[in-house]
Amino acid sequence: MEKLSGKKNTAVLISGRGSNLRSLVKYSKTKKSLIRIVLVVSNNFSAKGLDYANKSNINNVFIKHSNKKSFEDRLLKLLKKNNVDLICLAGFMKILSGSFIRKFNKPILNIHPSLLPKYKGLNTHNRAIQNKDNYSGATVHIVNEKLDSGKIILQKKVKILKSDSGKSLEKKVLKIEHKIYPRAIIKLLASD
Ligand code: GAR
Repeated sequence: MEKLSGKKNTAVLISGRGSNLRSLVKYSKTKKSLIRIVLVVSNNFSAKGLDYANKSNINNVFIKHSNKKSFEDRLLKLLKKNNVDLICLAGFMKILSGSFIRKFNKPILNIHPSLLPKYKGLNTHNRAIQNKDNYSGATVHIVNEKLDSGKIILQKKVKILKSDSGKSLEKKVLKIEHKIYPRAIIKLLASD
C-alpha cells in the first residue's frame, strides 16, 4: 500500500444518516486536522448525509449501485479526479471488491459498531445483548477483501447494562464512534 504524507484529501462514503460523516467534517475543520474532506459519495439517493454535505458545501455525489463493477469504476474515476488519498467508510453498507481495494492502493478505513472480531456484519447490538455480553463498543479498522476483518486501528468499549435494549446500546456506541473515528485517523496518519 502507498504511504501518505501532509494533509490528506479524504473521501467519505455513506449510505444513510451520516452522523459519522458529521463528526469527520467537524474534525476536518479543527486547526490541527490531518484531513481535508474533498468528496462525499453515497450509494443511496435519499441518504440524509447527502443533504448535510450539500448544506456544508462539500462536493457530494450519488452513485447508483446497480452493479458493483459500474459503481466502483465510477467511484475510482471520481477519487482520481479529486486526488483522494484516504477513504473513510462511514455507514457505507456495500462491500468493496478486492479489485477496487488494489486499484485504489491507498488506505481505506471503516467504522463498525462492535468489538471486532466479534459481530461482523449487521445487527451487532442485538447480537451482543442476546449473547449476554458485558461489553460492546466500536472499532475502526483498515478495509481488506474480507468483511469487517482488516487490521484494527482503534477500538473502544462501552458497558452493556441489564436495562439496555438494542436501541439504547446503539445510541451509546454511536457516541463512541463519533469520538474514535477522528482519533483513529490521527493514529493511522501519525504512524505514517
Ligand atoms: C454506524 O453505527 C456505523 O458504525 C454502522 O452504520 C452506522 C451508520 O450511522 N456501520 C456499519 O454497520 C458498517 N458495517 P451514520 O450514518 O449515522 O454514521
